Amino acid sequence: MVAYQALVLTATETNVTAAYETKLTPALPKTGVLVKIAYSDINYKDRLTMNAKSGVLRNYPATPGIDFAGTVVTSDNLFFEPGDAVLCTGYGTGIQIDGGYAQYVKVPSDWLLKLPADLSLQEAMQYGTAGFTAAIAVTKLLRQPATIDHHTPLLVTGATGGVGSFALSFLAKLGFDQITATTRDLTQSAYLTQLGAAHVLATDQLTVQPTKLLAHQTYTGVIDTLGGPVLEHLLPLMHQDGVVAACGNAAGIQLNTSVLPFILRGVTLYGIDSVYYPRKDRKEIWQLLATNFKPVNWPTTETVAFNQLATLFNEATPQTTSRTVIQY
Ligand SMILES: NC(=O)c1ccc[n+]([C@@H]2O[C@H](COP(=O)([O-])OP(=O)(O)OC[C@H]3O[C@@H](n4cnc5c(N)ncnc54)[C@H](OP(=O)(O)O)[C@@H]3O)[C@@H](O)[C@H]2O)c1
Repeated sequence: MVAYQALVLTATETNVTAAYETKLTPALPKTGVLVKIAYSDINYKDRLTMNAKSGVLRNYPATPGIDFAGTVVTSDNLFFEPGDAVLCTGYGTGIQIDGGYAQYVKVPSDWLLKLPADLSLQEAMQYGTAGFTAAIAVTKLLRQPATIDHHTPLLVTGATGGVGSFALSFLAKLGFDQITATTRDLTQSAYLTQLGAAHVLATDQLTVQPTKLLAHQTYTGVIDTLGGPVLEHLLPLMHQDGVVAACGNAAGIQLNTSVLPFILRGVTLYGIDSVYYPRKDRKEIWQLLATNFKPVNWPTTETVAFNQLATLFNEATPQTTSRTVIQY
């Protein structure tokens, strides 16, 4: 039996507060793999758990944290042995069951992956769900025949965020040199250029004009983290046989569009779901993250200690993107 600290969110009618509680490992689920966590990170979805109305968590009190990396302590599956370095993203972690914002966690064995060689526990959570999602999206773009040409015009939206900045750095690592990145904050242009953007565009430049059914063919591939009106404006701008990987909804969830980009230009719209991405394909993505996709210029990440997390979560407006790593 081990006593450990967990961050617990409690909801009242008006707000959610975060505080540490001491817990004992026997109170964790009876089955699964017990992991001592070394690193986690803060995702968009983790931040939403501080808003009970977001619906991310059905029940409070709860321990959020949708991903983590650490070392196996005990295991009910022969595939995992004590001492194995493992990582976990998605499934029900930090949503259906207590997640990574604790020093120990117990999850079903089929939610875990062994850490690939050439990747540290810290790097795994520098990527976190954001990097994993970006990597899935990039693999969809690589199915587009035009991406044989590294000068093909690509676009990444919400590019200062976790998913966006990793998508940008992976595409740059792969040799693409005509990537446009969007941000609402053009003071971030130098950062985005350093990650690999050839052009930086203010996000509102994409939506300033009324949407057309079809517009000038501008991009062969798009990784979109914003959704809503941004995605609406992007679909008519796609090249013949262009590919859009829709990852997020930071700008909205509604999508008012027409079928014309699909039936007249053969555009493909891929939905990216990292949470239930098939286990067999996860290994391949993490292998790419450990090798071919590993950026030359990593997106900047901030590291916070686990004992600083409650203060951060209790701030009225936490100043984080999904580029914040938690060290235990
Ligand atoms: N499909 C999946 O499996 C999956 C996995 C992870 C995340 N996501 C989703 O992907 C999206 C991005 O996640 P993330 O982790 O990258 O979040 P993040 O780190 O907070 O980044 C989001 C970026 O979007 C921009 N942005 C935020 N609000 C905006 C608004 N109202 N209008 C326009 N731009 C806005 C900001 O960039 P600027 O300030 O530079 O404009 C921000 O840096 C979220 O919707 C998240 O839920 C989906």
